[in-house]
Amino acid sequence: MTDEEYYEFIRPYEDAKQMLLTRLDVLNHNLYGEASARPIHNIQCRIKKKRSIEEKLRRKGKEETVINAKDYLQDIAGVRVICYFVDDIYNLTELLKSQSDLIVIKERDYISSPKPNGYRSYHVIVGVPVYCLDGMEYFPVEIQFRTMSMDFWASMEHRISYKKERADKEQLKDELREYANMLVEIEGRFEQYNETDHQLEKHQSK
Ligand code: GTP
Ligand code: MG
Repeated sequence: MTDEEYYEFIRPYEDAKQMLLTRLDVLNHNLYGEASARPIHNIQCRIKKKRSIEEKLRRKGKEETVINAKDYLQDIAGVRVICYFVDDIYNLTELLKSQSDLIVIKERDYISSPKPNGYRSYHVIVGVPVYCLDGMEYFPVEIQFRTMSMDFWASMEHRISYKKERADKEQLKDELREYANMLVEIEGRFEQYNETDHQLEKHQSK
């Protein structure tokens, strides 16, 4: 894959990502109707680097071509939405999924079913329509919805453990699971101060 091929390849993924960011922004402003109760804390996004695309294709035993990247990778465009409460995640994803021009390609709820290592997050890959000269095509964007505490755990785990070899891996594994449980407990305690359920009802009955 040449640099030129890469930059041309990612252009529609950039467009798809941008459109999704705008929709998330609109949902963030409108979900509960009150500026003090916005569901999204912050959003991060990225387009997969050429080197990461090539590495992932190699791992999958595929030749490193743009055609294979298009056919086999669904996380070229990635958006991470960090929310305050678990309910915010379900409220946002319900509304996003109900937008009739988007298609849901894949969904994984690691909040109701956390991974054995303690990882929690709600993943959905949506197909976003991108219009170009020769018509419309859906491009996938991988969205990860997390609360701040899920993001804290995942970022730390990614830094010290994910896809890495280390001598103390077993002990670390137990520790990370323990921290994940502690964070669920803390998150639960904050839930009692979540007043957005009430606001959602008020807003929707208007
Ligand atoms: P990848 O091939 O790594 O993209 O995973 P997948 O196709 O099996 O999909 P999955 O939904 O499990 O993971 C997609 C992405 O979620 C990963 O690229 C990570 O960003 C994140 N993720 C999944 N599992 C973990 C985990 O155990 N720890 C951390 N830190 N991140 C994870
Ligand atoms: Mg990935």
